Amino acid sequence: MNLLIIGAPGAGKGTMSELILNRYELVHVSTGDMLRAAVKNGTPVGLKAQGYMNRGELVPDEVIHDIIVERLSQDDVDAGFLFDGYPRTENQAVDLDEILKELDKKIDMVINLNIAEEELIKRITGRRLCPACGEIYNIYFNPPKEEGKCDKCGADLIQRKDDNLESLEVRLSEYHKNTQPVIEYYEKKDIVRHIDAAQAIEKVFEDISKELEGLCR
Ligand code: AP5
Ligand code: MG
Repeated sequence: MNLLIIGAPGAGKGTMSELILNRYELVHVSTGDMLRAAVKNGTPVGLKAQGYMNRGELVPDEVIHDIIVERLSQDDVDAGFLFDGYPRTENQAVDLDEILKELDKKIDMVINLNIAEEELIKRITGRRLCPACGEIYNIYFNPPKEEGKCDKCGADLIQRKDDNLESLEVRLSEYHKNTQPVIEYYEKKDIVRHIDAAQAIEKVFEDISKELEGLCR
């Protein structure tokens, strides 16, 4: 099973990916996480991506192409994968189709997380992350038991550099301009499932689970 999860910044792609991966054995391919790791490690890709990411702009398609080809060349993806935050331009979607054709693979379902923009501000400004295990928290909706500490591993929580109102505005405009056409691209293939992402975390996951059970049947 090969899946793709798409939605505006803060819609819950990472949160839902974690829950899906707890249930299904899939490889999580998050271009955002891969790029943040590259920035942290100071790799050539990281150096190219850093400025775009901090401003909230999309990283150029060529950079993304290279990291995807490299990731999909690893054998573990044969078990199935979950793309999170990729593709997010129509160019990337067309490119992905070509890459997958070569590998004799396809996308089975696109999960589109729908949510109104005003709901995203608290999700983005309230998000806290564990730099050690990747757990995602929110000081308003999903706080850790002890302030500033990860429940799972005890590490000090951090905030992403692009989780501020200025970058969010740019990220939303990139989303409308470049990523909404990607949803239309997959609509034409009739593989998009629309999920109401404004509900509580458990309810959003329940709705996704129903769609996935339908796919596995
Ligand atoms: P990326 O990391 O993909 O960021 P994004 O798309 O802006 O999405 P986020 O990760 O911010 O949100 P999310 O939907 O994962 O939400 P989460 O689950 O964390 O990309 C970052 C940057 O990298 C881009 O701006 C770009 O520069 C670059 N990039 C990445 N991929 C690229 C590509 N393919 N092409 C070009 N550039 C690329 O949840 C958010 C918060 O809400 C959390 O605090 C969470 O606890 C909370 N929450 C989640 N669900 C709920 C709920 N149901 N109710 C209440 N709270 C909730
Ligand atoms: Mg994310």
